[in-house]
Formats: sequence, structure tokens, C-alpha cells
Amino acid sequence: MELYANDTKAHDEARQGEAFDSTSPKKHFNKFFYVESYGCAMNFADSEVVASILENNGYGSTRQAEEADLILVNTCSVREKAEQTVRKRLTEFRKLKHIKPGLLVGILGCMAERLKSQLLEEEKLVDIVVGPDAYRTLPDLIAEAGTGQKAVNVILSRDETYGDIAPVRLDSNGISGFVSIMRGCNNMCSFCVVPFTRGRERSRDAFSIVAECRDLFDKGYKEITLLGQNVDSYYWNNPETNVSVTFAQLLESVAQIGPSLRVRFSTSHPKDITDEVLFTMAKYPNICKYIHLPVQSGSTRMLQLMNRTYTREWYLSKVARIKEIMPECSISADIIAGFCTETEEDYQDTISIMKEANYDYSYMYFYSERPGTLAAKRYQDDIPEEVKKRRLQEIVDVQWVLSNESNKKDVGKTFEILIEGNSKKSADEWMGRNSQNKVIVFPKGDHGFKKGDYVNVLVKDFTKGTLLGTVSK
Ligand code: SAM
Ligand code: SF4
Ligand code: F3S
Repeated sequence: MELYANDTKAHDEARQGEAFDSTSPKKHFNKFFYVESYGCAMNFADSEVVASILENNGYGSTRQAEEADLILVNTCSVREKAEQTVRKRLTEFRKLKHIKPGLLVGILGCMAERLKSQLLEEEKLVDIVVGPDAYRTLPDLIAEAGTGQKAVNVILSRDETYGDIAPVRLDSNGISGFVSIMRGCNNMCSFCVVPFTRGRERSRDAFSIVAECRDLFDKGYKEITLLGQNVDSYYWNNPETNVSVTFAQLLESVAQIGPSLRVRFSTSHPKDITDEVLFTMAKYPNICKYIHLPVQSGSTRMLQLMNRTYTREWYLSKVARIKEIMPECSISADIIAGFCTETEEDYQDTISIMKEANYDYSYMYFYSERPGTLAAKRYQDDIPEEVKKRRLQEIVDVQWVLSNESNKKDVGKTFEILIEGNSKKSADEWMGRNSQNKVIVFPKGDHGFKKGDYVNVLVKDFTKGTLLGTVSK
């Protein structure tokens, strides 16, 4: 399915704001905003939408908070620690107001949505509060706050997708870009605050997604990650033509933009990932062979309490299916230790599912109760913190062994690497990733490669989390 060929309108709309690209010289603007983002990739992508809205309203972006007229913090509520970090930053930014009268500080994102006007009225940490679906009203809110009024908009929407706004890329390496394909989440995982902070799930116009990806490719980007809390439930219906698009079809359309454009996506829910998606991945070499498939727990009893709607066996059958269709595909997971009522036996089920699924990588957390969630209402947060932390540490240790074994198997293999930039340690080395999302570092030598090139690299060794290689002859 071609989703871009005849749709010039969506393409033009997606190009809006190009004249205000963050590379524009500062002299075009007389006011500047500084934005700091926390949380998931979707929040970082939202900050780029906000940057576009602000640039269209006369604000240029700056990477120095001290020179900004407006400081925005795009926040995450997923765990308590994330909120603590933000409070600390806001307290620091508030101090800048004494040095720079007229400076406005605003909070965006999930914490703004969760706490509504609390940070403005009670804690007096900010001047502006804007929830994730209200960014279009930011210019009006800035004007209101400038006259000393309370500027709050946390109204959630059933249809806002910012599909017509061309994000201004912030802190981009010019090679990898994130593209939001949907917003919100309809799953009610009992531990999770996201459905409350992001609202109902809605899918973005497929044409505008493909137009945005194409535009990035035209600008030299080589890798696009399609973002959503649950990408496999993406479903867009064009009311005018009655054409509907599934995630597998969208993935295919983005892959067809060009064979040298790598396509990734995140996050997949194990209950929703379909064979159609897996076969599409297998069909296109430029769709990366990597799936982030959060498990959360290996115990069916825990999964039920978490409202994940799958069992241990269902999850493992999905892993088996992925490996059957794409034996080379890497898999990572999110894991929570110490959810309500978790016994040693439940926890051992998590350890064993990690080994059975043989994760290449995991993101691991201990349970943090979030006010308003189903778990906070229904269950007691009864696992002592030291037990949560001990279990988490053991989970981290197991993953370390699994990642190590996975890396060891790569020694002697050659992978196609997309060069993202210099390695962290040395300007004499390149850093890139393979299709499986593993980081590979290798000496530049005198090959004359540049950022954005594809290079075949032979893996010779590895350190914790990084493969080490040399350019393949
Ligand atoms: N939508 C994705 C999914 O279905 O798995 C992930 C979204 S969530 C923002 C990212 C991860 O944070 C979750 O997969 C979960 O492991 C973790 N998480 C969410 N709520 C949490 C909580 N209350 N305590 C600890 N970790 C949590
Ligand atoms: Fe949260 Fe579950 Fe939705 Fe992921 S799928 S965002 S964990 S409610
Ligand atoms: Fe955090 Fe909101 Fe993302 S809670 S993880 S920023 S959707």
C-alpha cells in the first residue's frame, strides 16, 4: 500500500513550519524558549511539536536555560522518582525568576495532567500548566501568564494527534528521528498512570505520518522510529474515502519510502502484535529486526492483577512465533519487580520467563504506586521496599548474564551498521547500531565514512552493553 503518492495536501501540511527549523539563525526571533524533557520517547517527540508551535509564534529555541524568556519542562508521572526529579528542576528554575524578571516557567506533559493546577496554585512552582492534548493553546496561555493570570489547560481530547504539525527537531543527530503515530492508551494496566495522563487512544492520519517520514528521509535522516504506547493497535480510517490502515500496512508504507531508510517501532503489547506485523517485518530488510515486548511479570497470577490480559504461556508463544518467523530478531522487555502481593514464587516466575524468552535487553523497575491507578485503588502496595529492591537487583543481574551471552554469540558475525556519530569515548571511533538495536563501536581508520553511512562491521569483542568491531573487508 502506498500512502504518500497522491496525497500532496498532507505532505504540504507536514512541511508547515519548515522555515522555522531549529537551525534558523537566532536573529529571526526576539524571544527564546528552553525545553527540558523527561519520560518516554513520546514526550521527547511532543517537545518537538511544542517547539514548532512556539516557533510559529515568534519564539526561537535555545539550549541555555539562562538565556530563555520561557522555560518549559515536559514531564513524566510513570514512577514517583520521575516526579521528584521534575520538582527539583522546577525549584531550580524558579530561582532564575529572581535574576530574570518576566521569565515564565511552564510544566507540560503527564505530571501537568496528573496534578492539574496544584503546581501553580498550591506549590507556586510554575506559571503555566499544559496537558499533553492542549499544546496548541500554549501561545494563548503564555499571553495570559504574561499578564499575571493563571494559565492552565489540561483538557484531554478524543481526537487531537497534532498530525498537521511538522515537529522542529531538537537535539537531533540528523540521522534518527521519532515520529508519533498515535496518542493515549486504552489498556488499563492496573499499575499504570498513562491512560489517565494521556487519555483515550487515537491514531494519527496515516498520510501525515508517511509524509513526515518522507520529509525526514529527504532531509537526510536514515532511521525512523514509529511511536505509540501500543503501536499494534494503530488503526486509522479515512472518513472521506473509508480507507482504513492497520499498523502492518503503515509499517509497510514507511518501509517503502526507501530501502536505505531504517524503520523501527515502539511499543508493542504482547496481546496485540499480529502475524501480519511479523511477516511485514520479515519481508522488508529495512524494517529492523528488533521488538520491544514488555512482559512486566512472568507470573500469570501477577499478570492478571496487572490487567495485562495475557498469561505467561501466551507471552511465551508470542516470543516463539517471533523467533519462528524471524530467527535473527532481538527482543527486549520491561519488567516490574515487587508488584502488589508478589510472592517469592511469582518473582521466580519472572526470573524463569526472562531466561526462557532469552531477552537481549530489559528495562527493569521496581513497582511505584501511582495515585488514581486501578492498583492504587484495589490492592495494597505490600512488598517492603528492601524486598522490591533486592528482587530488582537479582533481575538486573540475570539480565546482565543474558545480555552478555547474547553479545558473546555475536562475536565473529558481520552486521550492517548505521553510523550515528562518534563513540562516547573517542573521536577516532564511530558508534552505530545494527538492525537488532545493539550498539557497535569501531575504529574510523582511513575509510572516509561519515555519519549516516551504512558499514559492514565484524564483531571482535564486547564490553558491558557494547559490541566492539572493525570494518569488514
Ligand atoms: N505501553 C508500554 C507497554 O505496554 O508496556 C509501556 C509504557 S510505560 C510508560 C513504560 C514502562 O514503565 C512499563 O512497561 C512498565 O514496565 C513501567 N511502569 C509503568 N508503571 C509503573 C509503575 N507504577 N511502577 C513501576 N514501573 C512502571
Ligand atoms: Fe500503561 Fe499498559 Fe498502556 Fe502501556 S499498555 S501505557 S503499560 S496502560
Ligand atoms: Fe511518562 Fe507520560 Fe511517557 S507518564 S512514560 S511521559 S506517557
